[in-house]
Amino acid sequence: MDLRLTETQEAARQTARELAEKKLLPAAAKLDAGETFPVEAVKDLAEAGLLGMRIPESHGGAALDTVSYALTLMEIARADAAVAVTLSVNNLVAETLANFATPAQKDAWLPRLNTPEGLGAFALTEPQAGSDASNLRTRAEHKGSHYLLNGEKTWITSANHAGVFLVMAVTDPAKRSKGISAFLVEGGAKGMTVGKHEPKMGQRASHSCPVFFKDCKVPAANLLGGEGEGLKVALSGLDSGRIGIASLSVGILQACLEEMLRYSKERTAFGKPIADFQAIQWMIADTAVELEAARNLTLAAAWRKDAGEPIGEKAAMAKLFASEAANRAAYRATQVFGGYGYSREFRVERLYRDARVLTLYEGTSEIQRLVIARNVLK
Ligand code: CAA
Repeated sequence: MDLRLTETQEAARQTARELAEKKLLPAAAKLDAGETFPVEAVKDLAEAGLLGMRIPESHGGAALDTVSYALTLMEIARADAAVAVTLSVNNLVAETLANFATPAQKDAWLPRLNTPEGLGAFALTEPQAGSDASNLRTRAEHKGSHYLLNGEKTWITSANHAGVFLVMAVTDPAKRSKGISAFLVEGGAKGMTVGKHEPKMGQRASHSCPVFFKDCKVPAANLLGGEGEGLKVALSGLDSGRIGIASLSVGILQACLEEMLRYSKERTAFGKPIADFQAIQWMIADTAVELEAARNLTLAAAWRKDAGEPIGEKAAMAKLFASEAANRAAYRATQVFGGYGYSREFRVERLYRDARVLTLYEGTSEIQRLVIARNVLK
């Protein structure tokens, strides 16, 4: 792996950094406090060509490589993790579509994911099926020219602003994991309703909603992949998605380190800046090492993906390490700030809350370990 960035990768990072510093960071605290969906940020991302950055050029996207994508998410998450997860879920849907869609489906659906109105939602999780993704209950009954969807999804990112839903549902209950299929459903489709977004601890400007299907008619042409291939569609999409969440984690780690450095040089105690104390220096050193390790694991997984190698295990490793390290970094940053770190007036309080979900969504740390162990033991 070549650790030097190409011109394209450097340019993608720079574009994202400018947008993050000029627009996203100044708006982040207010959006978080109001649980306000980042409508303007999504428009800005679309204008900067970042919303559909992994969509092929033939379908209006920027067709950036995975390393550029990871670098972009790191910069966005450094400013606002809620915006970054909105972007990464859009990309999760776009990439899964690009990998499994027929040419006609690509023409019909991919260009929408470049636009704020066509934002993607990935509808896998159900109230009783989070980690156990094959235990779905949402039913899709084949009725000739269409399927009829009935059931309930939960924790669906951006559902109340999405235009393109990727929905996994059971087509043949007897076949269990081989009886699940994936469907493309338009936002606002008759028979699909989106409930109120969850009040959350962190990443509050990203909205996570329940979605209900009651006799929702989906054209048979909207089946993505073959019937019974839905779990494979979803889980292979999540392999890539986990590189996205690892990148988000790196962004939060970076922000924690920056805050620790700035504050520890400004704040004095016992007659000198607290950065002069070894207790603080060790926390800074540990965070710097973990940032470096997390970034390298994430970029290595992205690089392997671009090289066409299998990435399941490496993406799980990057997501596990980076998300856990981001939580340790947020804990240390709060320690360095002392009581101020517990105040809503300071950025580290938001970073601490935003970091927490990183070890939960797109597969908990325990699921990442399961994926890694299965690979290591085989
Ligand atoms: N790619 C493609 N296919 C895969 C796969 C992968 N990475 N992993 C498994 N499969 C296939 C298997 O080959 C198998 O198919 P066959 O029977 O044809 O061989 C089928 O899927 C079932 O696999 P397993 O037997 O391994 O299933 P399992 O139930 O033992 O375990 C699991 C699977 C790894 C635990 C999986 O269920 C999993 O990853 N769970 C976590 C789900 C998750 O990450 N949810 C996140 C929700 S989305 C989200 O958070 C997005 C957001 O909004 C922020």
